Amino acid sequence: MSEQEQSPTLPFPAERLPRHVAVIMDGNGRWAKRRGWRRVRGHEEGAESVRVVVRTCRRLGIPYLTLYAFSEENWARPQAEIAALMKLLERFLRRERDEMLERGIRLNAIGSIERLPASTLALLRQVMADTAAGEHMTLTLALSYGGRQEIARAARRLCQEVAAGALRPEEVDERAVAERLDTAGLPDPDLLIRTSGELRISNFLPWQLAYAEFYFTDTLWPDFREAELIQALASYAARERRFGKTSEQIAGEET
Ligand code: FPP
Repeated sequence: MSEQEQSPTLPFPAERLPRHVAVIMDGNGRWAKRRGWRRVRGHEEGAESVRVVVRTCRRLGIPYLTLYAFSEENWARPQAEIAALMKLLERFLRRERDEMLERGIRLNAIGSIERLPASTLALLRQVMADTAAGEHMTLTLALSYGGRQEIARAARRLCQEVAAGALRPEEVDERAVAERLDTAGLPDPDLLIRTSGELRISNFLPWQLAYAEFYFTDTLWPDFREAELIQALASYAARERRFGKTSEQIAGEET
């Protein structure tokens, strides 16, 4: 992607873009099945959607994008499908590394990544280290990720710190928990997108999505490209976020 590449035209003011978009990329298997193809073919096409969505978010200046690439529960899938997903992830990391560097994209990961195959984990760590100075966008891949497991890990850390005398129980507040989640340092997502018509969050960022706007679409992930992303962003831009306040209070804050 060249520097000259134009940012997509938006049907709303750029100030109304979300800062952090999180995506549950669903429907790869169904996309392939509908065509009589192997599920893996759907994942391959889904990886292309990942490329498009990352590039578009970068061009729009969205600073945080978090993608649910592999859940804790996905380890229960057939071994061959898991192996194919890991190979696709490796291919993505190899192919996109240079562009991430060039475009100032920092790669980040959340989840129990130590469960990944050694070759995948080594490459992931390498690309994260290589891109660590990226200042324009943070691309977070949720890999072997489960939200409840993440909260349990944070709770365990807090207990250990209290037991060690490094923290008092009264100091355990929302901030203390957030600082011990895998997402420490990232703002909470403003917008959650889920493709393929499923209306649930499936253990994805349950703590962090507390105030997020949700956007569900029937489009299957391999068909989710720039136009669909802009549609989701436009839906977000048209909403009023109140965070528990009244419309009048929000209007007062804006003036
Ligand atoms: C859900 O579709 C998708 C996944 C379990 C994996 C997501 C992986 C990719 C988009 C490709 C590789 C990722 C990267 C980061 C390059 P599904 O298989 O559950 O679809 P179904 O519900 O139709 O069966």
